[in-house]
Amino acid sequence: MPSYIAIKHLHMTSAAISGLFFIVRGIWKMRGSAMLQQRWVRIVPHLVDTVLLASALAMVFWSGQYPFQQGWLSAKVLALLGYIVLGSIALKRGKTPLGRTLAFAAAIVVFAYIVAVALTRQVLPF
Ligand code: HEM
Repeated sequence: MPSYIAIKHLHMTSAAISGLFFIVRGIWKMRGSAMLQQRWVRIVPHLVDTVLLASALAMVFWSGQYPFQQGWLSAKVLALLGYIVLGSIALKRGKTPLGRTLAFAAAIVVFAYIVAVALTRQVLPF
């Protein structure tokens, strides 16, 4: 049985990799790089995000701190949804370069908010 602290480290590490990977993919998208079509680039982010969410769920049940009961966890879940929508506009659905770039910048801000909420356990961390 892994310890809670091990899961938490897994969660933080996968969060960092996920964020860095998103930034790299956003830059590739803006440059029209063919890297985005590479098979591993299409698969690895999903694996990392699965680990990120699975570790989050493990901690939620283990620690008994549930979203929509703990304000900061609700904020994390809602911000995560926003990050996913903005991220998909930035990397896929955005029709114009400007729209994709704005969505990319907004997604990074939302990601930073999620990390700040995680570190402070406050809905308004700033
Ligand atoms: C992009 C998404 C996410 C990022 C970047 C992220 C980041 C982090 C970070 C950096 C920590 C460590 C905070 C500390 O030092 O105490 C943390 C803790 C935690 N995260 Fe996440 N997280 C994300 C998504 C989620 C989601 C969706 C949930 C649950 C619904 C979640 C649940 C938790 C819990 C329960 C802890 C606290 C562990 C503890 O101290 O007991 N996270 N997260």
